[in-house]
Amino acid sequence: MAAVTTGEPTTELKTELLQLAKDTALKAGKLLTNRPGTLEITSKSSSVDFVTQMDRASEELIFSEILYARPNDGFVGEEGGDRVSVSGITWVVDPIDGTTNYLMDLPGWNISIAAKDSTGGLIGVVYSPTIDRMFTAARGMGAYLNGRPISCNKNVELKNALLGTGFSYELDKRREQVTLLSSLIARVRDIRRCGAAAVDLCYVAMGALDGYYEYGLNEWDYAAGGLIAREAGAIVSGRHGGPECKEMTIAAGPGLHDVLVGEIN
Ligand code: IPD
Repeated sequence: MAAVTTGEPTTELKTELLQLAKDTALKAGKLLTNRPGTLEITSKSSSVDFVTQMDRASEELIFSEILYARPNDGFVGEEGGDRVSVSGITWVVDPIDGTTNYLMDLPGWNISIAAKDSTGGLIGVVYSPTIDRMFTAARGMGAYLNGRPISCNKNVELKNALLGTGFSYELDKRREQVTLLSSLIARVRDIRRCGAAAVDLCYVAMGALDGYYEYGLNEWDYAAGGLIAREAGAIVSGRHGGPECKEMTIAAGPGLHDVLVGEIN
């Protein structure tokens, strides 16, 4: 049985995990880009939360690639892939983030692959083939877009901010979300709803969005993008400043993040 990793993993280990995640994301991207003639659609948590055979096929591919290379690691996947970690490292995977965009053939859907240890996010990869963007980060090693370093925007005033957000699959919750949106919309530059949380977080990382907030994300939606945003200098938190969680994810550069936390509360 492999020993549980203790202390900060070496740069070599982080680089190895990152490479595995990138290679696997590229393979999943190839699988997903080759769209089948018919998508078999079933609903999950609500009448508008869909899953297709491609979500499942992508997760199966990622599960087998990663656990073949690292059989002692744990796994948590949106479509139910589950394995308890023996090594101390657990992979957190969304095989298609932005399933509705995928279904409707809109851009921005992505494969989100993160690995975490007892300290938190260790590496993150968000690969979006339709926009030809591979976002990557490893803890303490910076964030990259297609191999080039990226950083978030800093000290943006609320009135100049371009924000991203998303709407819940819980239809009643959307009424509350619109209340917050209608309070913000006249006081910011504009708001985007791009349809894939992991890429939204990466847009904050690269400075394409100044900030992003969303209620109801699951760990597989924010694990990779959250690390990438942090490594690009952004602050990523929950509603009251603790870690991001299902109740709220708020990401923005220093200066704007505190203002957004105040607005959302
Ligand atoms: C969804 C997308 C969407 C966000 C939802 C997520 P999924 O992920 O990221 O942008 O608004 O909250 O659940 O279901 O397509 O993997």
